[in-house]
Amino acid sequence: MTIKATMTLDKEFKIGEIDNRIYGSFIEHLGRAVYEGIYEPGHPSADEQGFRTDVIELVKQLQVPLVRYPGGNFVSGYNWEDGVGPVANRPRRLDLAWRTTETNEIGTNEFMDWAKKINAEVNMAVNLGTRGIDAARNLVEYCNHPSGSYWSDLRISHGYKDPHKIKTWCLGNEMDGPWQIGHKTATEYGRLAAETAKSMRWVDPTIELVACGSSNRHMKTFAEWEATVLEHTYDHVDFISLHTYYGNRDNDLGNYLAQSLDMDQFIYSVIATADYIKAKKRSKKTINLSFDEWNVWFHSNDADKQIEPWSIAPPQLEDIYTFEDALLVGSMLISMIKRADRVKIACLAQLVNVIAPIMTEKGGEAWKQPIFYPYMHASVLGRGVALNSIVSSPKYDSKDFTDVPYLDTVSVYNEENDTVTIFAVNRHQTDTLSLQADIRSFEGYKVVEHIVLENDDVKATNQINRSNVVPHSNGDASVDGGQLTAHLPKLSWNVIRLGK
Ligand code: AHR
Repeated sequence: MTIKATMTLDKEFKIGEIDNRIYGSFIEHLGRAVYEGIYEPGHPSADEQGFRTDVIELVKQLQVPLVRYPGGNFVSGYNWEDGVGPVANRPRRLDLAWRTTETNEIGTNEFMDWAKKINAEVNMAVNLGTRGIDAARNLVEYCNHPSGSYWSDLRISHGYKDPHKIKTWCLGNEMDGPWQIGHKTATEYGRLAAETAKSMRWVDPTIELVACGSSNRHMKTFAEWEATVLEHTYDHVDFISLHTYYGNRDNDLGNYLAQSLDMDQFIYSVIATADYIKAKKRSKKTINLSFDEWNVWFHSNDADKQIEPWSIAPPQLEDIYTFEDALLVGSMLISMIKRADRVKIACLAQLVNVIAPIMTEKGGEAWKQPIFYPYMHASVLGRGVALNSIVSSPKYDSKDFTDVPYLDTVSVYNEENDTVTIFAVNRHQTDTLSLQADIRSFEGYKVVEHIVLENDDVKATNQINRSNVVPHSNGDASVDGGQLTAHLPKLSWNVIRLGK
């Protein structure tokens, strides 16, 4: 069976310029993300610093522009001073967030070296759980001040003459969550974040700052938290953060694939709340959104209950992703590109081993999970201006959602390269979707490639040396007289690339 959808695409229907940082990711000192993930001295591919070059190669394929570091929940108990200077002198600490032991072998400077190797900037989080203004402003001075002060000279003495020039900084992590070390009320956090922001910017006025929003849209304090935090921080920060994780816990595929509608609602609500405070303050400034944790996370929940407390880099949050997860990740990317006017930073949480597109085997291979592909396609091909396509699609209702369009899509126009990329998910579980798109304003454009990620088994996974879920380029999209026609297979992620 086939269902039909239509779409009109015009270069004038601009949503906004996409900030490349929406294709960011995240490395936390958690599980095997750092140790045995990006760093494994003795591995056959390890470089002189112990970084796995096979992992670097895979990360480069993703063209990750920004990596959030060092947490996550971890940062709320982290003393950054433990991770700088001679490695032999660094203390082992209990990490209360994940109940493991942190060796501090990798710290700020090593991570900045790694980020350079993957051509990414770092989105550095400061500890507003157990620490505060002083530790944060000192870290900015250590990282960004050229020389001639205690902390900048200490960095130089550690072998880093040039400042790291870190531009984007997170003011703590998930401070609304009772699980957070140093959990705070919105007022307590808002005041601390504002004062910390002021001091950090007095050290380096060029930095950009992200205040913590809610840990997810279903927190009891959601929206009130954002409003209160922004009341205090509005003039001192640039972004408010959003986090969300989804999962197919009830094994209800229709409902699962509709969860990106929850993400849409989350984004709209945070924009509305930020703009409410803007109105109250009669401010000319607009606060943008940093969706600095998003992904699917549920497969590993039970396994994580078995972890031996205080072990070093145990396998934690090692979700093995399925094909259906890749479809939802594709839709989540579409949701964020659709609001590229306000979502200016986003971080797929996380990057290696921990709820990650890239997995590693100790001493062995590195491999790609199914979610690797939609993330790579969006990051590599989704740069330019987000276009609002006018879509007419049949819809369905699910347990938690109504009017879920079978066709989920957004397009990106890259004027410089004269290319348009259409990202599309067909959520229909049995039917091919026949797409008819009017692309008149893109005169002379032809189909360059129609990439499809599809699989008859929604639970298909990839493993070391066994890639069951991989995209192909045999999609049938074609253009004739300004009309694009394509068949999107049932349950598929599609990337239709147009160019001259
Ligand atoms: O990404 C895993 C964890 O999820 C992060 O540490 C925390 O911020 C969130 O709850």
